[in-house]
Amino acid sequence: MKKDKKNSEPLIQDFTSSFTVVYKEEMAKRTICRMDIEAPLIARKARAGQFIVLRVREGGERIPMTITDKDPEKGTITIFYQVIGKTTALMRTLKVGESFADVVGPLGVPDEIESVGKIVMVGGGTGTAVLYHITKAYREKDNYIVGIIGGREKELIILEKEMGVLCDELIITTDDGSYGERGLVTDALTRVLKDSPDIRLVWGIGPLAMMKAVANLTRPYRIKTMVSLNPIMVDGTGMCGCCRVTVATQTKFCCVDGPSFDGHEVDFDELLKRKGMYFPQERESLLFSVR
Ligand SMILES: Cc1cc2nc3c(=O)[nH]c(=O)nc-3n(C[C@H](O)[C@H](O)[C@H](O)COP(=O)(O)OP(=O)(O)OC[C@H]3O[C@@H](n4cnc5c(N)ncnc54)[C@H](O)[C@@H]3O)c2cc1C
Ligand code: FES
Repeated sequence: MKKDKKNSEPLIQDFTSSFTVVYKEEMAKRTICRMDIEAPLIARKARAGQFIVLRVREGGERIPMTITDKDPEKGTITIFYQVIGKTTALMRTLKVGESFADVVGPLGVPDEIESVGKIVMVGGGTGTAVLYHITKAYREKDNYIVGIIGGREKELIILEKEMGVLCDELIITTDDGSYGERGLVTDALTRVLKDSPDIRLVWGIGPLAMMKAVANLTRPYRIKTMVSLNPIMVDGTGMCGCCRVTVATQTKFCCVDGPSFDGHEVDFDELLKRKGMYFPQERESLLFSVR
């Protein structure tokens, strides 16, 4: 899987857009939120696999979010996020008509999407929001797509209808069996891999442990497996070094070399350790913000 570095455009800061929320939908007892944001320049340039870095308020934390979809005609981008800590909780308070302080993007290397034949797209939790834009690009290249999307319970399944339109087959899993097949997305993938010797490519996007499990499952079959990594990011432009990951024993900066990488080459154990590094501070910051 080649990275489309030659077509990635130089970073521009869009000072002309207002980054106004034009649509908002809350799901899963308000723990997942969709927002359509006015950002015409980003909507025009964004390609599958890319993300933005946003700030809710002046002086606030910068956080990365994947561009799940874009509408260049309306000049909007769509994000789906899980309300997990201080900044995402603050994001949820924004109403339609209110604006983000700033949004930078599109960032990251767009994925080069090719016509390869039969592919499996696996999304876990809000990872499906990251998977969606990439799946759409594979659809446009006429691949045969088997989708597997899952969550802990029915309410946490997102983009089912939209993925259903893109996929030739769609399997839904829930950990508790409240919808679709009972079990993990990796259980369904195990079966699909056994039954279909003609799979050319697998994408797995979701929690790090899930992506590691997907890569481990496909390794014995020698099927190319791509993942989209989500380390802590600050500037998103290759300057702070925060998003270091080890891929094929080399240090890469996820924001400028990724976020997509060959899952068989990623050192997931190191990334899992680094990702939990600030957990006590994040916890404290959330508790402090709700006092
Ligand atoms: C390229 C990329 C794309 C992403 N796309 C999405 C998406 O589409 N939808 C979605 O729900 N989430 C996405 N994330 C994760 C999202 O950025 C974090 O959930 C968010 O930053 C949490 O912030 P918080 O203050 O609410 O939570 P905190 O309490 O600060 O953190 C909760 C957890 O979120 C992660 N996190 C915190 N700060 C950052 C940071 N600056 N960069 C990366 N991760 C962080 C850590 O795992 C942390 O333990 C993406 C991350 C990356 C790197
Ligand atoms: S986020 Fe700073 S180098 Fe990648």
